[in-house]
Amino acid sequence: MNNKFSKSWINMRIPYDHIARSFILIDFLKKHNKENKFNLIDMCSGSGSFLIWSILNGLFFKENILIDNDINLLKSVKSNLRQHLKNISSIKSNNNNMNLIITHKNNTESFVNIKKYDCDNYTTTDSQPYVISYSAAIDLMSRPSIDNSFKLIKENNVLFFSLCFDGKVKWTPSHPYDKYILSFFNDHQQSDKGFGMALGYKSINYIEKKANKLGLKIQIRNSPWIVRNKLKDDILFMKRYILDIKKSLFHMDGIDRTMLRQWHSDKCKSIEQKKIKLLVGHKDILIHKL
Ligand SMILES: C[S@@+](CC[C@H](N)C(=O)[O-])C[C@H]1O[C@@H](n2cnc3c(N)ncnc32)[C@H](O)[C@@H]1O
Repeated sequence: MNNKFSKSWINMRIPYDHIARSFILIDFLKKHNKENKFNLIDMCSGSGSFLIWSILNGLFFKENILIDNDINLLKSVKSNLRQHLKNISSIKSNNNNMNLIITHKNNTESFVNIKKYDCDNYTTTDSQPYVISYSAAIDLMSRPSIDNSFKLIKENNVLFFSLCFDGKVKWTPSHPYDKYILSFFNDHQQSDKGFGMALGYKSINYIEKKANKLGLKIQIRNSPWIVRNKLKDDILFMKRYILDIKKSLFHMDGIDRTMLRQWHSDKCKSIEQKKIKLLVGHKDILIHKL
């Protein structure tokens, strides 16, 4: 089965993800990172969205390790950093673009080490405290892979699961088939997305229970996409979102394809012709011992 994620969709999401992200991690680090001791491991980093957001928000980790199993996405990290951080930072790289040096405006440097690796098999041995980030990834993960992520917490590490899809999508105005489509979409999210059978939105509850059982501290904040079809980019984004839903659900057992097609074409018309608002529920979840 092809679990590859579309580079164009992941890159299209970047500005919408940035607006959605909460400040829960930044607030935590303001309290607990007095000596800048934390470095970053960004698991399932894709094309670098989380690192870019961190830097845009003044969160500079000295060492940044980016892990993903898709080399095509990893290869676009450098160009994405350059595109989104122009006027803010300069980016130098080695020949294969897997080791980068980012020089920030205040002349401090961050080092980026990009690795093609399976997140389930990545372990840390050093005692350096890390923020271990999983951005827009946890709903794709299976129970065993989430269990693996908890093994990384050790003494000082912090786990940060951001943009965790919570199973809720609300269109205003709504369409009579919205609930029907969402129910199939949530079933689809619980298929294999690269880590065995994914938990989908149920991963949030699983993480909460697991953190509580292990006696870890857990903080949760909302980080929804709220998109209105005001600008041309918003229209393109919404149309791509519904097209991807249509494509994903089309071959599912039991789906009524006539309803799916009708839903998609009605939505397209609304996006082009009416005022429409899309809310996709996400949570940011921070887990720590401190
Ligand atoms: C929805 S994307 C999120 C990308 C990025 N974190 C972001 O916020 O834009 C999920 C990512 O998980 C990666 N992925 C899926 N299974 C993986 C695995 N077993 N090991 C490493 N990366 C994996 C995909 O290649 C993809 O880049």
